[in-house]
Amino acid sequence: MKEEQERLTLAIESSCDETSAAVLRGGRTLLSNIIATQIPVHQKFGGVVPEIASRKHIVNVMPVIDEALRQAKVALNDIDQIAVTYGPGLVGALLVGVSAAKSLAFSLGVPLIGVNHLEGHIFANFLSAPNLEPPFMALVVSGGHTSLVQVKGYNHFVLMGQTRDDAAGEAFDKVARVMGLPYPGGPQIDRLAKDGNPAAIDFPKALQDKGNYEFSFSGLKSAVLNYLNSMKLKQQPVNKADVAASFQRAVIEVLVAKALEAMHATGMRTLVLAGGVAANSALEGRLREAAQAQGIRFYYPSTVLCTDNAAMIACRGYYQSLAGRFSNLYLNAVPGLDLTDMDAEN
Ligand code: KG4
Ligand code: ZN
Repeated sequence: MKEEQERLTLAIESSCDETSAAVLRGGRTLLSNIIATQIPVHQKFGGVVPEIASRKHIVNVMPVIDEALRQAKVALNDIDQIAVTYGPGLVGALLVGVSAAKSLAFSLGVPLIGVNHLEGHIFANFLSAPNLEPPFMALVVSGGHTSLVQVKGYNHFVLMGQTRDDAAGEAFDKVARVMGLPYPGGPQIDRLAKDGNPAAIDFPKALQDKGNYEFSFSGLKSAVLNYLNSMKLKQQPVNKADVAASFQRAVIEVLVAKALEAMHATGMRTLVLAGGVAANSALEGRLREAAQAQGIRFYYPSTVLCTDNAAMIACRGYYQSLAGRFSNLYLNAVPGLDLTDMDAEN
């Protein structure tokens, strides 16, 4: 294999409604990151339809890989290793990427690296901030997961806590849906909240006891539903911008409080935001303010690297390859894969 910094990783991501391929040189030099989004296809159904997602991935996967190679100005034969998301996600969607990656790795005779999508979200930060190094605390907020993870090394993670029920992004999407906003709801609520009063409605904030790093957003979601229903019964007008801003504030307050408490408890001085909800402008703003006030370094990925993309999978795959964490051709999709503790020595 080439020198580590010259190693070319081709990555494939197909866990949900984005088909993406990327080429990375070494660990941090992104040569291409192509994303074919299916959002307009699923929008008319109000959410992702798994069967349609799988079919679209099949159509898109090879053209997206070709385009990633073309933009990176490299040939398939130049690729040293193939990284692919194998979970968590929709099983049929994941299988398309995993099958494409296995076929390519087999035919090129190069190593295959199965990547945990959630670890990928964290690693997006290494591409946005080339000087970032572990250790740091990561707050992972995506459509399916909400977790606080200590990243002690590139292959050393300690899970502090995660959500007991809905993920933060899921709550955004469900609340948006009942308010009649299109899928995905997160960006819609983000936009609408800018015109609303975050103190207008006092929605509940769960699990606020000290030292508890778990999250729960289903009660908040129900509280928003109950509020909307009771206003309807009373035939009173609803200020949607106020609902969006108040809901968003309740989510953000819990995320910020728990992230900062975890930092104090562990003595970590660097905080990293990751996952699709990291694109939320108010969350990023509040975390930045809180971090500045306490002398904490704060990082979050550029918007394109916040939501699903193969660049982050390539970066995670590269650091797995340095630790010899390769997969074999029996690699399968694991839809329920979680973020768990990992130690480089294991
Ligand atoms: O990480 P991601 O692209 O996919 C998963 O791995 O789940 O996250 C998608 C989630 C969706 O729930 C979407 O509504 C949310 O991220 N999201 C946002 C924003 N942009 C995307 N949530 C709040 N504000 C945003 N600006
Ligand atoms: Zn994701």
